[in-house]
Amino acid sequence: MKIIRAKDYNDMSRKAANIISAQVIIKPNCVLGLATGSTPIGTYAQLVDWYNKGDLDFSDVTTVNLDEYKGLPRDNDQSYYYFMNDNLFSKVNINLDRTFLPDGMEPDSDKACADYNKVIAETGGVDLQLLGLGHNGHIGFNEPGAIFEAETHCVTLTESTVKANQRFFASIDDVPKQAYTMGIKTIMQAKKILVVVSGEDKAKIVKEAFFGAITPQVQASVLQLHNDVILVADEAALSLVK
Ligand code: GLP
Repeated sequence: MKIIRAKDYNDMSRKAANIISAQVIIKPNCVLGLATGSTPIGTYAQLVDWYNKGDLDFSDVTTVNLDEYKGLPRDNDQSYYYFMNDNLFSKVNINLDRTFLPDGMEPDSDKACADYNKVIAETGGVDLQLLGLGHNGHIGFNEPGAIFEAETHCVTLTESTVKANQRFFASIDDVPKQAYTMGIKTIMQAKKILVVVSGEDKAKIVKEAFFGAITPQVQASVLQLHNDVILVADEAALSLVK
């Protein structure tokens, strides 16, 4: 694993955006695996900025997102579909027909997951997968558990994740309790993985995930087995790592 130490959140965002830009420049028709959460917002803002300056062209890019809440309509401002449109898709020249997320409004979980596996397979595979890191070590919505789930599956979110996401909703009752997420096998099949992490509150989990035991209890720890992972983290997030 390559660790890139950033000064702060802005520096992390610029460095991560540079890596994504390089991917888009080297292979204009690449498949990007994208992530939501607060951490990559600055990365997307930087990409939009460079697009506006004429430095980036997304017209041939395909994207597949990691996850989506089950039961949230696309026009709900907390859906990941809404997030991606708001932070990236509506601001660059990407072809919306080439942007994919699990269908949160498909009530049949088996169907939603099978459909999404098919979408991912049809893209031909992810060239670069962007990941954030949950406080409990989740990637996408692969929550701590006894096993690594391989492909897209429906998850019941842990109490800690529901609490962490409460800040985005009016009340805890409004936070969706289930989500569809890409599985660990799919994430691990990406040719390259870029993890972004910021803040002192993530320092403990960074240490556990990337320097601790490889265990489904800390799902991100499996990334230690991938041979092309770049961790871009700020000093606060790396404060427990020598
Ligand atoms: C969310 C998302 C993850 C994200 C993580 C961390 O629940 N499903 O994809 O990486 O939690 O979020 P944040 O970046 O806001 O800390």
